[in-house]
Amino acid sequence: MKFRLEGKVAIVTGAARGIGKEIATALAKEGANLALCDLDIERLEKHSIKLEEEYGLKALPFKVDVSKSDQILAMVEEVVKRFGKIDILVNNAGIAIKKRFLDISEKEWNKVIDVNLKGVFLFSQAVARRMIEGKIRGSIVNISSIAGIIAYGPAGAPYSASKAGVNILTKHMAYELAPFGIRVNAIAPGIVETELSKSGLKNEVSRASRLKRIPLGRIGKPEDVARAVVFLASDESSYITGEVLVVDGGMISAVYFE
Ligand SMILES: NC(=O)c1ccc[n+]([C@@H]2O[C@H](COP(=O)([O-])OP(=O)(O)OC[C@H]3O[C@@H](n4cnc5c(N)ncnc54)[C@H](O)[C@@H]3O)[C@@H](O)[C@H]2O)c1
Repeated sequence: MKFRLEGKVAIVTGAARGIGKEIATALAKEGANLALCDLDIERLEKHSIKLEEEYGLKALPFKVDVSKSDQILAMVEEVVKRFGKIDILVNNAGIAIKKRFLDISEKEWNKVIDVNLKGVFLFSQAVARRMIEGKIRGSIVNISSIAGIIAYGPAGAPYSASKAGVNILTKHMAYELAPFGIRVNAIAPGIVETELSKSGLKNEVSRASRLKRIPLGRIGKPEDVARAVVFLASDESSYITGEVLVVDGGMISAVYFE
């Protein structure tokens, strides 16, 4: 069997649960060594040990807040020291504060933008500098959202604004890093069953109202996103950069009336 990411070193942020956890597993299955980070270090350590045992690779867990540049720089430094290079960065960590526009406080606005948008900027800059130093033709994949393309409500203004920011930042980074052979793409998932989306899926009525809008007729699974990450991280997508790949079961591709 051919492993698509054999010999590669990948960082995944927010890898303790949900989509990030599944991305880490998918990269491990393809043979990559991993450096994972999250705020929830206990959960992350458990997953790292499991990945090492199951796939015979190295998976280093770090407690890092992606909105803090000093913590990011320290992690990136340590990863280069331990592995010698970084080939892949997946900016997955994200939060949502579900409040109506008129009720959002300045503190809440800053929190969402700091984690979802500033975190992508800080991590990507730190890693891209190391990729360039090491002459690594790397791949950066940002986990955005369909909420960065359409207004996804009823209560998601800062989240949507942060993800729209990620989409355009992706294109700027793709353009400016292309001369170094570094590709930068984003994935915009639709509704994926995780802790983050559980409030919208908590009862049969809200679940059914969402399902009605998804042409493929099911809620997304973390693996749906993880498979797309493997594609964008691997050489199979070597001519794709600056793209926002929607993974949503067809949800935002059409407006249909009964
Ligand atoms: N679940 C969905 O429906 C959905 C849809 C579209 C996009 N997304 C995006 O996918 C990504 C993952 O979401 P999820 O659904 O798995 O969420 P989740 O809440 O299940 O997991 C997010 C992980 O990120 C970690 N995290 C949060 N803030 C952090 C910080 N400051 N520093 C480091 N780690 C931090 C959390 O501890 C958690 O382990 C997010 O960027 C989210 O916006 C999710």
